[in-house]
Parts: sequence; structure tokens; C-alpha cells
Amino acid sequence: MITVKICVGTSCHLNGSCNVFSSFQHMIEEYDLHDKVALEASFCMRECAKSGAAVAVNDEKYRVEPEKARSFFKEKVLPLINS
Ligand code: FES
Repeated sequence: MITVKICVGTSCHLNGSCNVFSSFQHMIEEYDLHDKVALEASFCMRECAKSGAAVAVNDEKYRVEPEKARSFFKEKVLPLINS
């Protein structure tokens, strides 16, 4: 199981973390990954910055801009599915 955590703390919320969350939800739906990817909301990950939301994929941290959420998911999450 791949764990994807998205920060919903104040700073990340203002940077669109809710949109990132719903984009990832759609991708999970689209690729039927309910039993492979666990999507979780997280409190502040202490990675606050000016742009994007903090995202952790199996504890590896990234910043994801809402408009790049789909390409991020394709590049960083999908390759882990069958590896
Ligand atoms: S609010 Fe998201 S890392 Fe701090």
C-alpha cells in the first residue's frame, strides 16, 4: 500500500492543498487504486513554503502546486504501483 499524505495545515490550505487532495482522489478513482493508494490528510508537516502544498509519498516529502497535481501523481505515485 502506498501512503500519500497531504497537508491541510493553514499555509498549505492557502496554497490549494484541498485542490491537490481532490485531484488525487479523482486519479485514484480513475485508475481504480482504492486498494493500492491510501490518501490521508495531515496536519502541518513543517514544510510550509510560499507555493504549493506539502505532500508525502511513503514519507518522502514534496511540494505540489494544485495545477500540477495530476502530473505529480502520474510521475511520483503511479510508477510505485507495480514496483
Ligand atoms: S501548513 Fe503544510 S507544511 Fe505547514
